[in-house]
Amino acid sequence: MTGKKTKSAGVLPVESLSHAEAAAELAWLARDIARHDRLYHQKDTPEITDAEYDSLRRRNEAIEARFPELKRADSPSLRVGAPAAPAFAKVAHVRPMLSLTNAFDEDDVRDFFARIRRFLGLAEDETIDVMCEPKIDGISASLRYEAGNFVRGATRGDGEIGEDVTANLRTLPEIPAQLAGKDPPEIVEVRGEVYMRRADFLKLNQTRIAEGEPAFANPRNSAAGGLRQLDPKITARRNLRFFAYALGDIRESRGVGPHTHAELLRRLKRWGFAVNPMTELCVSVDAALAFYRGVEDKRSALPYDIDGVVYKVNRLDWQERLGMVSRAPRWAIAHKFKAEQGQTVIQNILIQVGRTGALTPVAELEPINIGGVVVQRATLHNEDEIARKDVRVGDTVVVQRAGDVIPQIVAVVTEQRPKDSQPFVFPKACPVCGSLAIREPGEVAWRCTGGLICSAQAVERLRHFVSRDAFDIEGLGEKHIAAFFTDGFIKTPADIFRLHARKEEIAAREGWGDISTAKLIAAIEAKREIPLDRFIYALGIRQIGQATARLLARHYGSFTAFRKAMTEAAADSEGEAFQELDSISQIGPSVAADLVGFFAEPHNLDILDDLEKKEKLRIGDFVSTAAQDSPVAGKTVVFTGTLMTMTRHEAKAKAEALGAKVAESVSKKTDYVVVGEDAGSKAAKAAGLGVKTLSEDEWLRLIG
Ligand code: IVH
Repeated sequence: MTGKKTKSAGVLPVESLSHAEAAAELAWLARDIARHDRLYHQKDTPEITDAEYDSLRRRNEAIEARFPELKRADSPSLRVGAPAAPAFAKVAHVRPMLSLTNAFDEDDVRDFFARIRRFLGLAEDETIDVMCEPKIDGISASLRYEAGNFVRGATRGDGEIGEDVTANLRTLPEIPAQLAGKDPPEIVEVRGEVYMRRADFLKLNQTRIAEGEPAFANPRNSAAGGLRQLDPKITARRNLRFFAYALGDIRESRGVGPHTHAELLRRLKRWGFAVNPMTELCVSVDAALAFYRGVEDKRSALPYDIDGVVYKVNRLDWQERLGMVSRAPRWAIAHKFKAEQGQTVIQNILIQVGRTGALTPVAELEPINIGGVVVQRATLHNEDEIARKDVRVGDTVVVQRAGDVIPQIVAVVTEQRPKDSQPFVFPKACPVCGSLAIREPGEVAWRCTGGLICSAQAVERLRHFVSRDAFDIEGLGEKHIAAFFTDGFIKTPADIFRLHARKEEIAAREGWGDISTAKLIAAIEAKREIPLDRFIYALGIRQIGQATARLLARHYGSFTAFRKAMTEAAADSEGEAFQELDSISQIGPSVAADLVGFFAEPHNLDILDDLEKKEKLRIGDFVSTAAQDSPVAGKTVVFTGTLMTMTRHEAKAKAEALGAKVAESVSKKTDYVVVGEDAGSKAAKAAGLGVKTLSEDEWLRLIG
């Protein structure tokens, strides 16, 4: 990876590249940019900064400009973003969703105005009015309204085909279900940016860290992740927002369309959309550039991230005439901000140990003020990231607040590297308990194998156990857990329920008294009863977040049934219990392996016995919020083949909402197999096992 990086920096000036060198570099750039597109658009886990990405694209364009005959069919300059990820139904955009050309300095902006003047043949004294808007750092969406009703929403995808995220978009309060005002157009597609406010992003990351899940790098990625949830309820909890800024397809039966972009924005507001309040009409390049500087000054005080300013030609007839070039309109340009950066020195590289044993390297920095925030630590992500950037203790580094929030290390200033510096060697043992660390194939993280003997893991698990979405024990904060652990009051989860026996000792501690102790004990006693899904989640099993815990609770119904099934599955990976687990929709093999692994561990079973039998916790049976009286409540359904009236995803969601369990494979326990077009072996298996099969029509009739 390090080698690739050097190459990407464009070692040779484009002018001195030979034909063969240019061809080779274009081939490499096409592959590399496509990979970064996938990481950014589909996985929401970019490995490089936006600036690095832009420089790859610019290099590609510069080489193509010099050797036009070498332009490849798969050239990144012909594409926008990445193809739609497979989990959602595809939506073809009636009008393509395009990207914007970037301007990196004032000269680029002046060139933009000059190009327009040339293209339209305008006289020198004719003004080119532009609407100036902040460039929101989120993810774009297109919302289709028919007769004023929101009917479909999609992501950009590759610009031509996006993902159908209608159900998720419906959860956003800023997306009206119906357009306000009289006489809405017959059809209109409203385009804009889904984004997350910084405060919501910080809150979300705190929760994710508490759940042992990786934090999002910036609000943009968490907005993208939030929009691509399979369960709209999760999207709803992310507090996503929406700024409208453009139209796609429009068909009006009456009246005339807008003539200017300013008018269009007013119309969007009237329909009930939020339009960015900083938007301003400017009548010259100089005015536009002044707007840019003004916004840049306000940038760090805004509640959301922006990464530049977009200038759009105001007259729509001019926009029409200007048209598009390959992937972007000629009538708009994005003037990007420079990322907020600073230089400082790495004093140390620490390794943090998470609840599941993952070792995360963190750089301790000489404190530095970047854009008004004092930065003292930056994440180094994992071993590969450190190697890719060759980051060492003592190095002077360029630190950037990516998305203005989590500090990252962009590059090492190698000229200032101390002579005696040594490459960082990732520890092969846990820094806390000394146990061996391992890195499994396909994983980026090293993990401590110490399990329960590792105090870092133990404390993190206890914190998780009492956290808000688990046992939610008020007054037992992170600091208390760590202190009680160190003093031996709490070593295992069940010890929490025995704290009442140490009332006097606690009350005597610094910061505690009789009243606060009594309150704590009461808060603990109140939690001796807990719903099944919370209990499963509280166990802190790897990869078992809230959604999966709820899925398991719904499937197994009671803790007794769940524990029995998991113990059997752990004992026999070929047996029926394992097969049943494996057949649950959304439980993949790696989640199944982590679950079974937990129940194969005698320590864990002791903890469960301790809680259930000794402390007599009452773990409530799962109570479904889905319709109890639906004809398919409690039934296990398998969908196979292509459905005509809905996507597979919709069919599953609907079945689950009606209280059915959706499984991936057919077994004796299956109640119905719904057979679509071109169904394969599942239909045959159903027939063999005597399981009832239904056509799509029959299924629709059954569920009414
Ligand atoms: S206009 C045809 N306006 O930036 C032009 N885009 O880098 C359509 N973006 O895909 C885009 N704020 O996701 C426009 N005020 C704004 C924007 C904006 C953010 C995003 C949008 C676009 C990307 C291009």
